[in-house]
Amino acid sequence: MLLETTDLTKRFDGLVAVDQVDLSVEKGEIQSIIGPNGAGKTTTFNLLTGMLSPSDGEIRFNGEDITDESSEKRVKRGISRSFQITNIFPELTVRKNIRIAVQEEYGYGWNFWTKTEDIPELEERTLEIIDYVGITADPDAEASTLSHGEKRLLELAIVVARDPELIMLDEPAAGMSEEETKEVVDLIHSLNEEYTILLIEHDIDLIMELSDTITVLANGAVIAQGTPEEVGSSDRVQEAYLGGEFV
Ligand SMILES: Nc1ncnc2c1ncn2[C@@H]1O[C@H](COP(=O)(O)OP(=O)(O)OP(=O)(O)O)[C@@H](O)[C@H]1O
Ligand SMILES: [Mg+2]
Repeated sequence: MLLETTDLTKRFDGLVAVDQVDLSVEKGEIQSIIGPNGAGKTTTFNLLTGMLSPSDGEIRFNGEDITDESSEKRVKRGISRSFQITNIFPELTVRKNIRIAVQEEYGYGWNFWTKTEDIPELEERTLEIIDYVGITADPDAEASTLSHGEKRLLELAIVVARDPELIMLDEPAAGMSEEETKEVVDLIHSLNEEYTILLIEHDIDLIMELSDTITVLANGAVIAQGTPEEVGSSDRVQEAYLGGEFV
């Protein structure tokens, strides 16, 4: 198992946001975490990346206990998360944004004054990633001038630059047009040829199309886990979604 949690729990004062969650993410799969608003999906992601410490429970990655490790150590292990635009430096170019992550990965460290343009392997890797992710914007454009869809691609490029094993995506299709959503689906499929994917999404069509397995959360707890077919036919899931979207 690539990633496993046992009894993962996060309490905020009186509220149990994540309640004894057991997750098993297998190498090579696309697993989705779904559930109504406030179900605990993003909090679970924050626990997995080390942004929050759990109140209880354990997290293992490649069999090793990482429960108390820093976020940066987890990134080095290969857990990489696409934030909602927040890891982009808006005033820097597309190329520079990616190169900073490449630099970090190649162990050059990072400061604004290093002339990394002179290091060919960094430049080559940067261009390779731009091509791989399918960024069509001008690499020398300032990141702030990109469209919403292009910013999301840039974010993914930054994730890929850290040479991850597990890519975590929190609502990658949020705010996207139908056309852009199709591109995201294609991109996630192609990322999955190399990487394991853990996904939070509200778009049920996208979930059903992409997921090998689905974990359904409600009020912080797992109410169903399995293939899209298994989860779609669960009574508890139907109830949680008020008889709505799963048919
Ligand atoms: N830092 C915090 N302090 C207190 N309560 C929090 C904190 N973060 C989240 N919560 C609460 O924990 C619960 C789970 O929130 P979370 O953001 O994980 O839900 P979610 O499933 O991602 O929802 P959404 O679909 O709306 O993104 C919510 O009731 C939320 O208000
Ligand atoms: Mg959320």
